[in-house]
Amino acid sequence: MDEITPHNAFTPAKEVQDIERFAGRISLLDDIAAALQSDGAQIVLYGQRGIGKSSVARVLSQIAINDKIAIARLSTPPHTKLEYLPILITCDDSVSNIDKLLIRLLTDDSALASWLPFKVVERKYVGEGGAKIGIKVVELSGRISESITERTVEVDADIHTTFINACRSIVGSGVAKHGLLIIIDEFDRISDKTGIASILKALGPEDVMFALVGVAGNITELIADHESVGRQLTDGTIVVPPMTKDDLGEIISRAMSALDGKYEFELGAIEWITSIAKGHPFYVHLVGKHALLRAISQKTNIVTKDIARDALADIAFKGSAPIQEATYKKAVGHSYVRERILKGFAERDDQEIYTTDLYGDLAKELKVDPSAISVYVGQLASEKYGSVITKIRDRYYQFNDSLFKAYAAARPYERKTGDKDEDA
Ligand SMILES: Nc1ncnc2c1ncn2[C@@H]1O[C@H](COP(=O)(O)OP(=O)(O)OP(=O)(O)O)[C@@H](O)[C@H]1O
Ligand SMILES: [Mg+2]
Repeated sequence: MDEITPHNAFTPAKEVQDIERFAGRISLLDDIAAALQSDGAQIVLYGQRGIGKSSVARVLSQIAINDKIAIARLSTPPHTKLEYLPILITCDDSVSNIDKLLIRLLTDDSALASWLPFKVVERKYVGEGGAKIGIKVVELSGRISESITERTVEVDADIHTTFINACRSIVGSGVAKHGLLIIIDEFDRISDKTGIASILKALGPEDVMFALVGVAGNITELIADHESVGRQLTDGTIVVPPMTKDDLGEIISRAMSALDGKYEFELGAIEWITSIAKGHPFYVHLVGKHALLRAISQKTNIVTKDIARDALADIAFKGSAPIQEATYKKAVGHSYVRERILKGFAERDDQEIYTTDLYGDLAKELKVDPSAISVYVGQLASEKYGSVITKIRDRYYQFNDSLFKAYAAARPYERKTGDKDEDA
């Protein structure tokens, strides 16, 4: 394991790799362990962007192999020793449909390929309706033997059948008592998910459990197949919710222990960071990291609330959260009024924001007519200003990305009250 330094004690840029750095989430992990013990269940882990799904998925793969440290995090240990063969792949834009996903699983060595007694090769050909993909199965006469005689069988092997047979052969070889656990992260990136339901149904009884992980507001949004999956998902539908303030605080204490207690965050700093994060572990890592480095550059080993606030300003102005910052700039443009209104919305805790009172308050404060406020709100919802909010029904708006909402609320103002409102 890499040495822990103030530069990597917090990891805003990647999911948690080491369980020692994984904070909280006990009841969620209990739900995961329960799903892993339910015969025929399939798992779907979904939640908002950046909320911690991939990190949870990694712990899932550790619980599935009865990893002692991961199991110790559960409030109820499993009733049986879990022995799955977990594999984890992350979808990218090249995985545009389920056939491509299955091909990827069959051909990637870190997925199923190295476990198969045959080799699968992707094949592109031109069919009636244009370019198509298919597979070719190369039978190997002996696995890992030096005298492999490769016999190319030019059959149009059906992707689904080959995949199901491949899973069967791995499970049948007895490599893992509980079978295969296929974790597919960023499943939401697959644009055409037709066919996933039938795969889940066909493989559930074969000791093949899937865990589909991705950004979604509900389960049907993530699965998005015309065919329903229903019954198989009863024990496995798991929402990854925003983290509690206590759990977020634990991220800081785990980082401090990893640094052998050489540094410390004051209570006020922890309180401030865990409240502006609004449930998003990403901000705890981001602000935690910059605050710690700032403290060290000021020759102190104690991070105060002021240092944490300054760190957030640094993050904004130096572009350390480039995606959120670009969205913020686009939404605000040259208008203080629009910035004030954006923040007014972002500061509301409710997910669905009721506009009537808010318009009144903002109109009074900005000394404009409430109808003028609604014009700006319309802009924030428009593409030109990044569509950061959406009208969900009469008088209710919602942020499209909760990670951005937290950023918009906490980021220092870009424009000043007296700034000329060039967009107005
Ligand atoms: N339980 C946790 N304890 C400590 N840090 C966490 C935890 N969960 C997530 N994080 C941190 O929060 C950030 C986001 O986590 P992660 O990448 O797992 O989220 P995600 O939901 O998969 O994001 P995305 O929607 O971008 O795929 C990362 O910096 C990660 O290190
Ligand atoms: Mg992720």
